[in-house]
Amino acid sequence: MYSERVIDHFKNPRNVGEIPEADGVGTVGNPVCGDLMTIYIKVKDDRIVDLKFKTFGCGAAIATSSMITELAKGKTLEEGMKITRGDVAESLGGLPPIKMHCSNLAADALHEAINDYLKKKEGQK
Ligand code: FES
Repeated sequence: MYSERVIDHFKNPRNVGEIPEADGVGTVGNPVCGDLMTIYIKVKDDRIVDLKFKTFGCGAAIATSSMITELAKGKTLEEGMKITRGDVAESLGGLPPIKMHCSNLAADALHEAINDYLKKKEGQK
């Protein structure tokens, strides 16, 4: 039921952990199942240079978090904001329909982290 890529990202998740001095942090909960995901970003010259994640969730949520950290690394903030749950699912070779909601977390947490960074930056002006 899962693609090989989903299983690979679930078994060997990339960029797991926390960035202690993160420039932006986004945490979202999934109303469907109560799972939680946090994404930490480091930003330099409007580009996401590093990301890490912590996910308390199902296998699909872990695979989508792992995948979004790979998709967003090196992207500008604007490009990061445009990454959708559909992009995440597609890069993973698809998700079973019942698991599509899990990919919401990854895209939402990334967007929250970017917004958090922008808010902090705004506050420093
Ligand atoms: Fe909760 Fe997938 S079942 S995120």
